[in-house]
Amino acid sequence: MRIVFIGPPGAGKGTQSANLIGHLKVPHLSTGDILRLAREEKTKVGLMAAEFIDAGRLVHDPVVVEVVGERLKQPDCQKGCLFDGFPRTLGQAESLDDYLDTNETPLDLVLALDVPENILIERLIARGRGDDNLDAIQTRFNDYQTITRPLLDYYERRGLLHEIDGTGTPEEVFDRIKAVIDNT
Ligand code: AP5
Ligand code: MG
Repeated sequence: MRIVFIGPPGAGKGTQSANLIGHLKVPHLSTGDILRLAREEKTKVGLMAAEFIDAGRLVHDPVVVEVVGERLKQPDCQKGCLFDGFPRTLGQAESLDDYLDTNETPLDLVLALDVPENILIERLIARGRGDDNLDAIQTRFNDYQTITRPLLDYYERRGLLHEIDGTGTPEEVFDRIKAVIDNT
């Protein structure tokens, strides 16, 4: 299966992806994780991405599309993949569609996690990752609303979108997700 998780910062994309990889036996492709690892390893991409991550700004599309393309070529992604935090611009979504069309491996589902902003802030401040400070969080929220949220319409037009209530415990959210997947 090929599933895209969309949701604002702190919505639970990473948490629910970690649950789902056990259920679906497909790899987890988180562009945030890939970029943070590249940063730790001080690769060219990682060094360039660092200032964007710290400020909560989106890394430029060609860079992100390139790292995803490299990951998708690896053998474990041939049977499917869980996309977490990608795509999050229209350009990224179109690049992904081109890639998947060429390889005749279409998306099965797009899961949009919906959580009110006050709960998101509480979760992020409690986690305390390097970019979980109020300035960077506000930038990430703004970009989500203006740049990423329009992808919900993009995927709804293709009949792929399922909106999931992301409040409650992680287990409750996972049960909602499984119900959608099992009905697909
Ligand atoms: P990324 O790593 O994707 O961060 P994000 O989108 O801001 O989302 P988060 O990882 O903060 O939240 P999440 O939805 O995964 O929630 P989580 O499960 O961790 O991106 C970081 C940066 O990388 C970007 O700002 C950008 O610079 C760059 N980047 C990445 N992808 C890019 C792209 N495609 N294009 C351009 N730039 C890109 O949960 C959050 C916390 O809440 C955790 O502590 C968790 O334990 C807790 N929690 C989860 N669920 C629940 C629940 N149900 N109840 C209570 N607590 C919960
Ligand atoms: Mg995450």
